[in-house]
Amino acid sequence: MTLERKIPVAVLGATGQVGQRFLTLLADHPWFTVAAITASERSTGRRYGDTVRWSMTTPIPPSVRDLMLAPTAPDAVRGCRVAFSALDSSAAGPAEVAFAEAGFLVVSNAKNHRMDPDVPLVVPEVNPGHLALAAEQSYGTAGARGVILTNPNCSTIGLVSALAPLEAAFGLEQVHAVTLQAVSGAGIPGVPSLLAIDNIVPFIPDEEDKLEVEPHKILGTLENGAIRPHPVRTSAACNRVPVIDGHTLCLSVKLRDQPDLDAVRAAWEAFRGEPQHLGLPSAPARPIVVLDGDDAPQPRLHRDLGAGMTTSIGRLRPCPLLGIRFVVLSHNTVRGAAGGALLLGELAAAKGMVPGVAAEDVIGPRAGSAT
Ligand SMILES: NC(=O)c1ccc[n+]([C@@H]2O[C@H](COP(=O)([O-])OP(=O)(O)OC[C@H]3O[C@@H](n4cnc5c(N)ncnc54)[C@H](OP(=O)(O)O)[C@@H]3O)[C@@H](O)[C@H]2O)c1
Repeated sequence: MTLERKIPVAVLGATGQVGQRFLTLLADHPWFTVAAITASERSTGRRYGDTVRWSMTTPIPPSVRDLMLAPTAPDAVRGCRVAFSALDSSAAGPAEVAFAEAGFLVVSNAKNHRMDPDVPLVVPEVNPGHLALAAEQSYGTAGARGVILTNPNCSTIGLVSALAPLEAAFGLEQVHAVTLQAVSGAGIPGVPSLLAIDNIVPFIPDEEDKLEVEPHKILGTLENGAIRPHPVRTSAACNRVPVIDGHTLCLSVKLRDQPDLDAVRAAWEAFRGEPQHLGLPSAPARPIVVLDGDDAPQPRLHRDLGAGMTTSIGRLRPCPLLGIRFVVLSHNTVRGAAGGALLLGELAAAKGMVPGVAAEDVIGPRAGSAT
């Protein structure tokens, strides 16, 4: 890396569950430094350490404890070039457009712009080429173009991470997904304890739609400035379970070919993506780990593999209905939110998409500057 100074970034929605995870992951980041944090009017103008209901298992990073919470507006975070958005969806839509219009690279966890035809919806190991779709956007002015990039839904990320190697090797036709989703997925304050403890809630608003729709775009093909959706058919049933972090998915999958189980396992184990080839700071050495044993993966044991960035897969076996079935586990606030978005920001930086920062400055000459 030849960066003289780290790239100043703003975290939007810094008081929430995902915002806190961003600040934790960004604390010692080699390329980015948190220069500003924002929240709602309820919190702005106050010191972060006095305001946040901190819920991470490590202390508030000293570098942000004394920062003042700014309004969620580009003028309030002048000097930053990147905005990592952990905004509630009630605020993210227009706020993220305002930041892009002001020339920011916006990397968002919110649902609002995921399905916009010109907005990349990216899992960096799965569809990095979709970043080129951002060229269709026209935010900002000629001298200060802004861009919006989006991270998929937290369960979709685990789903497509497991499916992408199977699609590449054997062709993907149908998926049946039952999710067991952690309470941290509902943000702060989240699910009331009387609903969460000793219970399962068999409904998460909008979640099944996202799992059924987003894979079409992520696994789709970029052609002539637009995504041709992948035709996979997905049926999802989503449940909230009393787990703090880590979304589990029980999947049955129909593939075009009929590989044996060893071939399926080999496809997952060989899977690597552009983040691994580029050596991006948040890239896990192995995006997928296949676990042996009849009782893996489990959230408490396996959600932190690869610092929370590795997707765990286990219980691969034949399915009498669709062909194969297996269990996937992904850390929802790391890989499924802040960590995934951070990796996406790193990939964008490595491709020269951060205003005023050349690709070579962060990753050396091999990355090139084309998106
Ligand atoms: N939790 C997950 O596992 C997960 C995973 C993937 C994606 N996401 C998505 O990521 C986003 C954040 O999720 P979360 O779980 O962190 O939610 P959260 O805990 O409820 O945090 C929401 C954040 O948005 C801020 N906010 C709310 N209304 C605002 C407004 N009108 N103007 C400016 N800021 C406002 C809040 O600030 P105050 O504290 O001032 O209210 C807070 O910082 C959501 O869009 C969510 O769907 C979450």
